This record gives sequence, structure tokens and C-alpha cells, in this order.
Amino acid sequence: MSTKKTAKAKNIESVLKEDRKFAPDPAFSKQAHIKSLAQYRKLYNASIKDPKKFWAEQAEKELLWFKPWKKVLEWKAPDAKWFVGGQTNVSANCLDIHLDGDRANKAAIIWEGEPAAPGLPGEERTLTFRQLHREVCRFANVLKKHGIKRGDRVMIYLPMVPEAAISMLACTRIGAVHSVVFGGFSAQSVADRIQDCGAKMVITSDGGFRRGSVVPLKQNVDDALKIKVKGKSITKTIDKVIVLQRTKNDVKMKRGRDLWWHHEIDQVSDQCPPAKLDSEHPLFILYTSGSTGKPKGILHSTAGYLLGSKLTSKYVFDLKESDVYWCTADVGWITGHSYVVYGPLANGATTLMYEGAPNWPGPDRFWNIVDKYNVTIMYTAPTAIRAFMKWGDEWPKKYRLDSLRLLGTVGEPINPEAWMWYHKVIGKGRCPIVDTWWQTETGGMMITPIPGATPTKPGTATLPFFGITPEVVDDKGKAVPKNTGGKLVIRKPWPSMLRGIWGDKKRFIETYWSEVKGSYFTGDGCRQDSDGYFWIVGRIDDVLNVSGHRIGTAEVESALVSHKDVAEAAVVGRPDEIKGQGLVAFVTLKGSSKASKELQQTLRNHVGKEIGAVAKPDLVRFTEALPKTRSGKIMRRLLKQIAEGKEVKGDTTTLEDVSVLTKLSKESAA
Ligand code: PRX
Repeated sequence: MSTKKTAKAKNIESVLKEDRKFAPDPAFSKQAHIKSLAQYRKLYNASIKDPKKFWAEQAEKELLWFKPWKKVLEWKAPDAKWFVGGQTNVSANCLDIHLDGDRANKAAIIWEGEPAAPGLPGEERTLTFRQLHREVCRFANVLKKHGIKRGDRVMIYLPMVPEAAISMLACTRIGAVHSVVFGGFSAQSVADRIQDCGAKMVITSDGGFRRGSVVPLKQNVDDALKIKVKGKSITKTIDKVIVLQRTKNDVKMKRGRDLWWHHEIDQVSDQCPPAKLDSEHPLFILYTSGSTGKPKGILHSTAGYLLGSKLTSKYVFDLKESDVYWCTADVGWITGHSYVVYGPLANGATTLMYEGAPNWPGPDRFWNIVDKYNVTIMYTAPTAIRAFMKWGDEWPKKYRLDSLRLLGTVGEPINPEAWMWYHKVIGKGRCPIVDTWWQTETGGMMITPIPGATPTKPGTATLPFFGITPEVVDDKGKAVPKNTGGKLVIRKPWPSMLRGIWGDKKRFIETYWSEVKGSYFTGDGCRQDSDGYFWIVGRIDDVLNVSGHRIGTAEVESALVSHKDVAEAAVVGRPDEIKGQGLVAFVTLKGSSKASKELQQTLRNHVGKEIGAVAKPDLVRFTEALPKTRSGKIMRRLLKQIAEGKEVKGDTTTLEDVSVLTKLSKESAA
């Protein structure tokens, strides 16, 4: 049970000290949706005083309804039903509502493909709202033609191409439940997910481009569909596989099962009325890892999720009609769902999609795209920012970057040094930074600055979004005083919250609803400062106990990265006879810095100075690269095994570059 695995709240210590504060630029505030902290506070307080009234007003104002709801919320913890009795449709809210006016011929998706080779430009495609609507309708008809009905699960395993968004929207149009699987996952992962959700169809492509080579997606699907356990297929629910032609590599098409996308869409009408779906109709399942090995199928539902992603996109990105908005996440992750596809499109914004890697063909790829399309809003991850820092300022400095007006980050705590670099080198000191805290489970942003209103401090996601009630609590669920570490919970239900773990009610209750009775448990450690700002310490599982002190690995990492020679750091625990746990730091250095015994000592002392002697790593190990997932998360689980001198075991299929692991293991054996 989760309660046994997580830390005791009193042992969570937040030791990061950061005093810099950046007030919103008055020129930005003047044009923003929310113009001052006072205005934010007024709206926030009203939203908390009467959440039902707040959400009802927003749902009325922001969404298209086929049938009005009768009840705003039915809440019997842990089950929430929002906008009960209402009927709507996500694709209609992302597309049809924009077709009557000036937006019809505005770019909905601008797509930049990965260049085939260095020196060649990336392919370009633009789909207006009208064109996207047409493609979605056609593909929805293809789904129907092949027997997909309301509630059926459809697996999407595609590269970052517009057809990924088209497939998702087409499912929502007819009420099918999509489950996007990130293209970096293996055949085994695809099979496991098909088995878990009982998918009827897979949508894939012949291949996807990644750093100049082809990822064999169709081949992986073929392999997945052959996997047997005890002589029995685990994917027998699959009836059809639709294959998009992207890379034109050779693939085998199985008769009666496999169909080409381009043949299919030619045979159907481009008219497909949106299904009238209940507010609580299941929208999608997205798998995410938990503290045990088996991924959890997080379930989201129609109206609440849509309202959450629409409203947060509007206010946190301060979206305007003329923005070119770019979220660099893959659609295989929740960020890609809420902030590449649904949130921006529901707002009628132009969303940019990029197919490839940030350093292909060169480390300036992102900045090249920003200038090429005059991107105004960029939303990326701290891990990417640290990589840019490591690659050197000369790459962004070659570009204007003057179209940017707002920057965002998500996915992990951002260390203040990376925040400052983003602010200075990319934002030129001009762009507000929104550090947004949320989770696959929350559906949308929960704690985040509102850019024209909230003064920011590097390293904190600041204050809650409207209608959201986070609190830092002790083990009994009692709020702890300011500046004290504890567990982060959300007290009251919100529309875009998860509706369950697919097929596993018990795990749903145990993971999220048993730690603190009646509240949603986030799994994160946190502290609120004297301004009420929330500082995420990291996952509670990542919080280490050194001599009786709980120390967030993120904070030690942040201290290390604040040293001038360090590009990136990952800290894990290893058993220590005297202290309980000792810290081992894996460190990659900046290009010009050299590994040495002296530097190891310097870095230990540096952490000692920044945080305190208790946080000094016992060992600092230099490495050329850290093992990461394709979404950029450092795989601490693997580093922990290396730090403990153990053989690396367990699932490594999500690793971006397996050779990193081999090198690290060799170094430790040497
Ligand atoms: O620990 C928090 C961290 O990422 C976790 C959620 O991961 P996932 O479901 O993969 O979703 C990532 C994209 C929303 C959280 O429990 N996290 C996410 N954003 C932040 C963060 N930690 C600190 N600051 C953030 N801005």
C-alpha cells in the first residue's frame, strides 16, 4: 500500500534557499487577461469560497453544450461527477466552434518535420481549423467504418505528426476512448497496454524519424501482436491496425487486419457530426508509472478535462489570437494531450508541433524553429533547459528570439540556475516564466504563476490556479505551518481530476485516497514559504533520509547545478551503516570543465555550503551523460542500482540511450 512506502511528513525538509523575486513587467500585465496580483487573489478567493458557482460559470462561458447539465458536481470521495446530465463533445469544442468566424482559416496546427539530413530544411505543413476539421471528420468515419463504437478503446502509437492529433480528435468525435502510447516505448509496452485496456484497434505508422534514423513503429506493433503469455495471445482484442505512411520504409501488411491510412480516408465522407456525449463519458486513458512496476492507466473524462485544459491554457499562457504557441512535449505524455492538442485548440490558438529531437541536426534546432515561425510562447521541460545550458550559449545567441513573449516549464522542479538561464539567455530578461506544477492525474495545471499577476521566484511554481485547493500536511492530514515540509494534497475535487485507474479501483483508492482521508494525495513533498508559494521538494519516494534528515534529491541536484562547472546532476541514495542513507551524485560537466579529484571535493563542499553538511554527497561521480527516458526524466532507479554496486535490473525499455548505462556500469566496475 502506498501509505507504507511514502515518507513521514515530519521528515520532509526543504532546504533550498532562494530569495530572488521577479515582479511581472507592467507592460505585460497591461495586456494580460489577469492584470494584477490583487485581481488574481479576488478571483481565486471567490473560486474557493464557492467552487460550484465558479466552475458552473466557467463551463457555461467556455464550452459548447448540446444539453445543459443539471448538477455541477456529485462528490462522494473518491468519485467525482462534474456537470451531471450535460452533453458535449471535445472535438466540437476544439474545431466546430471556430468555423463560423474569422478563425476558420487560421492555422490550427503548424507542423515542422525532422529534416532528413543535416543541411536540409524540415518539412512544413499547416492545417487551418477548417482543414483540421475535415481531416478529423474523415478519420472519424474511418473509425466508424471499421466498427469502432462509443466507449471502445483505440491505441495510438504514432510519431509527432499532425495525424496523431487528428486520430485523438477523431476518437473524441465519436466517443471512442484513446490511449496514446509514446513512440519510444517498446513492443512489450504496447502489448501490455493493449491487454490492460482491451483496445480494439491500433493506429500507427510505417515508421517515425528520430535523429536521422527510422523508428520501426509498425514492426513494433507486429511484434506486440505476436506476444503470447503461456501460449495465449495477450492482444486478441485487436481487430484492425491502421498504418500511416510516413517514412516509406518496408513494412508487412497483414491481410484483413492492416489498412493504409491514405487508402481508408479516400473512401469516406468528410462530414461527421460530433456525438452528443455525457459530461462523464470516458475521454482517454494514459499510462503512467507508479511506485510499483506496472503502469497505471489514468482515466480522464469529457467535460471536466476539457474545461480544465482550456481554462489553464487561456490564463497561464495568456493566450491571444495572434500567438504562435509551442509546447515541445510529445503527444504520448499528458503535457502533449492537454497543452499540444486540447487546451490550445479549444482556445482557437495556433499550436506548433515539432517531430524531432532538440539537437538534430544541430543543438540550435529549437531556436531555429522559434525564429522561423516567430513563436511567441514556448513551453518546455527543465531537463531540456539544462541540456541547452550544457550545449552552450552560442547556439541560442545566433538567433533573434525576439518573437518570444512568455516561457513555461513543466515536469520536475526547475533548479534556480536553469530558471535564471532560461530567463536571461532565452527570454532576454523580458519574458515571464510560468513554472507549472501538475500531474498526469490532475489533467491540467494546478499550481502555477499567472503571468501578468504573480511575482515569480526561481524554483517555485508559486500559487494555485483558480478553484484548486492545495495544502501541505502532516501524516495526520493536518496543515503544517509555513516553511515546514510536508505532503502535498488537494483538498477539494476539481473538474479535470482523474476518474480512476482503468480496471483497478483498489489501486486508485490506495494510491491517491488513503494517505490523507478525504483528500487527493499527490505523492509529492512540498513546503509553503512565507508568501504562500509552494516549493515542490520532489516525489516523496525521491526524498532521502540522511542521518535522520529527509533531503529532497532535487534540492541537492539544484545545489550542484548552481556550480559553474556542472551541467546536470542526479542524486540517489545508497545504504550507509552510520547515516542510514548516503548520497551519491552523478554529475555531467560543462563542455570546458575537466573532471578531477579536486573538483569532486569542491563540489561536495559546494553542496555543503549551499545546503548544509548533511546534504554533502559521499561520492561525486563524473559521467558523460545520465540515463534518461525519452521524455527526459532521469532514471534514478537505474542510478540507484549502480550507486549500490548492484547489477542493473528491471525495465530499461524506456531508456533514451542504452549505451549510457553500459558506460556507467563499466566505470563502476573499473
Ligand atoms: O513530482 C511532480 C513533477 O512531476 C510529477 C508528475 O509527473 P507526470 O505525471 O509525468 O506529469 C508531468 C507533466 C505534468 C509531479 O508529481 N512535476 C511536474 N511539474 C513540476 C513537477 N515538480 C516540480 N515543479 C513542477 N513544475
